[in-house]
Amino acid sequence: MSEVKLFINYEKLSSYVANIVEKQLKEKPNSTFILPTGTTPIGLYKELVKRKLDWSEATTYNLDEYIDNIDPEQSYLHFMMVNLFEHININSDNVHFPKKEHDTEYGFNVDLCLLGIGGNGHIAFNEPGSSFESETRIVDLTEETIKDNSRLFDNIEDVPTQAITMGMKPIMSSKRIVMMANGKHKQRILDKAMFGRLSEELPASILQLHDNMEAVYCD
Ligand code: GLP
Repeated sequence: MSEVKLFINYEKLSSYVANIVEKQLKEKPNSTFILPTGTTPIGLYKELVKRKLDWSEATTYNLDEYIDNIDPEQSYLHFMMVNLFEHININSDNVHFPKKEHDTEYGFNVDLCLLGIGGNGHIAFNEPGSSFESETRIVDLTEETIKDNSRLFDNIEDVPTQAITMGMKPIMSSKRIVMMANGKHKQRILDKAMFGRLSEELPASILQLHDNMEAVYCD
């Protein structure tokens, strides 16, 4: 059963999710995490940096990474370094990005998986039509996603058209999932994903089947 918690603003939402991460790290210092990129988790990462938590034993798996001849500064690795990893005491050997297709070890059974949601309901880069059984693999990005993500590039031509993404299977194997959505433009898709029909055309809808999942939203 899915649950959506509403927050009056982005700061409150970010600090709520930071509390979940903090509790997880304190209860189990060697916790494993799946982490998202995008604009939505930036507030969370800021809050986590402020809290000076002990990440020395933690392990992280990022959801996805662009492939193509990408400017290194546009990579998700760079995003994570600047927004989180450079500011916390995580061991760089414990930071992972997807590299190999069909890697059946990558990101499985983590303690806490944090997600954003794309405008078309994608999670990581599992675009509409992705199998609920999918594994880590290389994918073509949809036109809509390329357009959405172009706001972070100088030109739309610079946006990579392919990425390597964690599949739906490892995401669903997480012990706990928290999905974040910020802004009115995400309201409709979040609502459909959480309370609508289960469909591979709306990848985030599979989260309804997870027994320890919540979504958090503010507009
Ligand atoms: C990208 C990422 C997703 C993320 C989505 C939403 O497509 N691959 O993991 O959820 O962007 O981004 P934003 O949070 O900027 O809306």
